[in-house]
Amino acid sequence: MLSKINRRSWLKTSVLSTGALAVGAALPAEAISRAARGTASEGKLLELGPFLGEYQPPKFPDLNTLKARLCWNENPYGPSPKAIEAFQKATFKGNHYSWNHLYELIDKISDKEGVKPENIMMGPGSSDLLEKTAMVLYMKGGNIVSGDPSYMSLVNVSKSIGADWKAVRLTDNYQHDLLKMEAAIDTNTKLVYITNPNNPTGTITDRKALYDFCSRVSEKVPVFIDEAYMELAEGGLKSSMAPLVAKGKNVIVSRTFSKIHGMAGLRIGYIVAKEEMLEKIKAITRGGMGITGPSIHAASASLDDVEFQDKCKAMIREARSYTFELLESKGYDYMPAETNFIIFPIPMEGDKFLEKIYEKKVAVRVFQFWDKTWCRVSMGTMKEMKIFARAFEDIVG
Ligand SMILES: Cc1ncc(COP(=O)(O)O)c(C=O)c1O
Repeated sequence: MLSKINRRSWLKTSVLSTGALAVGAALPAEAISRAARGTASEGKLLELGPFLGEYQPPKFPDLNTLKARLCWNENPYGPSPKAIEAFQKATFKGNHYSWNHLYELIDKISDKEGVKPENIMMGPGSSDLLEKTAMVLYMKGGNIVSGDPSYMSLVNVSKSIGADWKAVRLTDNYQHDLLKMEAAIDTNTKLVYITNPNNPTGTITDRKALYDFCSRVSEKVPVFIDEAYMELAEGGLKSSMAPLVAKGKNVIVSRTFSKIHGMAGLRIGYIVAKEEMLEKIKAITRGGMGITGPSIHAASASLDDVEFQDKCKAMIREARSYTFELLESKGYDYMPAETNFIIFPIPMEGDKFLEKIYEKKVAVRVFQFWDKTWCRVSMGTMKEMKIFARAFEDIVG
């Protein structure tokens, strides 16, 4: 439990960081002036725009008319009814700031993760914390080592303020190439970022190999493990790297309520890290300040609703098996996903495929890497998966 003294000093740091928030606000200006001076950041100014605009939501005729919404890796069964009830009740206290409930949630999470409350920072979704970590670590440049392909939010913010991206291709069995990632680290490396299970591949990197990698490498440079989908993986949280934080390692683990808890629209997530690392991030954020009180209550209720989480995992697994079988029956390769999405190569130009599948009111994502076009389909309800199957068969046979 966070002691009163610690809570006070946490609050003090938080209040102080209001001033420090100006550092965050000044970041683009700094990047702009560096770019204007023609230093190492030259040209990076242009990247500020592309990151914000890079993610183009597919242009559906009308989202409300979709028959299968399989493009954002959402959990179609969420939120838990208990979370909804807690959220609704909490709106009556919407005139209050929710610090005390945030502390209670942090206590609950720290018990679950086996760390001290001081090792937890909450945010309005894990994206917020990924991006703030990038801003803090790359204010003065440096490079980031990460897998390719992988989730790009942290990498893109790092690049947009001047970092160099050292992309390390995944291995042929779609795991992070830990040997090559370690070899890519140099004196300018500020962070190694690993998404596990990975997005967009859905694949997981061997637990023991990753554990050894994190233990060793975090002595040189912080290692960020994005575990947005870990609860959905076959081994569940047993494969988490969070226990390394309890051992004092410089590892940052992020988690989100957007996936297994089905609360993507309620915006809440957290990171587990060494206090020293969280202190650095507090230079530009108070963390929990952006989370609404109802979302805090909903998250707490959802954590307690283990039955709901187990049910979601089972239903998502069923959709995954169904989709694997569909692809096998059609002779398609696919990556061995352990998440709520599956990616597979398609024999068609991406835009054309999207156009055709949108016509059928089915939304998926398309990626281009390794000289192939890939379709990434999120696991919806069985009804949605059957609609997807029919659409897919119609388009590619
Ligand atoms: C790997 C990964 N990390 C983080 C996120 C961001 O999740 P959120 O900001 O909703 O917590 C996502 C979202 O899809 C993701 O795929």
